[in-house]
Amino acid sequence: MPRYSITTFGCQMNVHDSERMHDVLRCAGYTEAGSADEADVLVLNTCSVREKAEQKLRSEVGRLARWKRERADRVLVVAGCVAQQEGERLLKQMRAIDVVVGPDNIPELPGLLGDLAIGGLPIARTVFDLDAPRFLVASPPSPPSPASSSSPRAAPTAFVTVMKGCDERCSFCIVPYTRGPERYRPSDEIVAEIAALVAAGTREVTLLGQTVNSYSDPLGALPRAPGASADDPDESEFAALLRRVAADVPGLARLRYTSPHPRHLTPSLVLAHAELPALPRHVHMPVQSGSDRVLRRMIRRYTRAEYVARTRALVEAVPGLTLSTDIIVGFPGETEDDFAATLSLVREVGFKGLFGFKYSRRPHTPALKLPDDVPEGVKGERLARLFEESEALLAAHLSSLVGTTQEVLVEGRDKERGATGERGPGGALWSGRTGRHEIAHIEGAEELDLLGEVVEVSITRANKHSLQAELTEAARAAARPRQRGGLEARPARRSLPVVAAEGG
Ligand code: 5AD
Repeated sequence: MPRYSITTFGCQMNVHDSERMHDVLRCAGYTEAGSADEADVLVLNTCSVREKAEQKLRSEVGRLARWKRERADRVLVVAGCVAQQEGERLLKQMRAIDVVVGPDNIPELPGLLGDLAIGGLPIARTVFDLDAPRFLVASPPSPPSPASSSSPRAAPTAFVTVMKGCDERCSFCIVPYTRGPERYRPSDEIVAEIAALVAAGTREVTLLGQTVNSYSDPLGALPRAPGASADDPDESEFAALLRRVAADVPGLARLRYTSPHPRHLTPSLVLAHAELPALPRHVHMPVQSGSDRVLRRMIRRYTRAEYVARTRALVEAVPGLTLSTDIIVGFPGETEDDFAATLSLVREVGFKGLFGFKYSRRPHTPALKLPDDVPEGVKGERLARLFEESEALLAAHLSSLVGTTQEVLVEGRDKERGATGERGPGGALWSGRTGRHEIAHIEGAEELDLLGEVVEVSITRANKHSLQAELTEAARAAARPRQRGGLEARPARRSLPVVAAEGG
């Protein structure tokens, strides 16, 4: 049986696409290789949101040319956003590549590999599925049965796609060109997928989409959500979707979403946050800049005051809700005053998490018309000042939680999975996320099986980016003991190797 390996770069949508590639390859009879060296087929799932991410692909392919030369039948596949953006050109530029496959063409991957195996030429398939959009569904493992300790358990957290593509035209952004126009998935299908995941043991679902809160049901199956205005152009059916998922899948403990656009943070969505206990008290809401002049040139379609008013309404409706954001520094024409406005916005909103990027020119984007006139050194220095500000806000926030009680959804054991991406100092700790998405490492519970449980903890210490915690007495008394060699450390879907595109 041919063996494959997948390396993932970039965002959660890419992580999700990689999981679907695992599914289609396994269904077609491939098995996962232990490492790239053992693989017959190597897939690079790429990101092109910033130039650095794209360069990573080029250097990786250069390195893999030797891997390919070692055996004539080895196959190198490039998938994801660079594949979509470059298409056939990649085959011409880099001879080591055999298959280029766009995000909408994942189901065709086994067929393309089959053609190659019988002597076909290198091929690129990068066609958007505009007429009949396909949303690939994970096949969850069967529901856990108490009798059989060998059946795998679904991972505690899962992603579910609700829409793909983007109709915004932010001037810096390549996504509309690599992911195509917006296409939405029927709410019936979304609910069915979530219900199946929850039946198999999943506790938290993150709804995925490039502008996830612009959702509208293509079959018109959703009633209007409370608070939704018929004549607000920013209104969508996203709040109605959240309400339907919460009502139809009551076993779902947490319902997250990413990434929303501030334009669609309308009163109906605020009301859903106020009324649905499954919605966690944290929202990632990209703002990009705190300067109106820059926001206008970025074509973000909101002002600083609108962003502040909308997020303030959300925080007022859900006391204690925290916000995180994405910010670009050094956009064309950004002055020191513009950047100062961004810093002041970070303080004003009090973001508890921040991804910052240096502006990077991308093909096809409207901002190519503007000169990239902020020197690299200035971009770097602004990014450092931005991180200094956000780290201080996060540190103060995490310290304020010491001594409080929080509910943590346990995602895995640090030692084996590093599920939260940050390893606890002790190694063999359970880790997970609080209701506000802070990472929490739970100490002194090695003998208990906490995977997938929502447990009550008290916070004992604040780390730089996470919390140390211990179970409350009540949570300890209620927890299951761990069975040696049992199933707690074997979630059905392993965490994929993710190389995040960072720092611009
Ligand atoms: N340059 C720098 N950062 C970018 N992002 C998107 N496009 C660019 C670009 N051309 C950032 C935005 C977005 C995040 C996913 O990546 O902040 O929210």
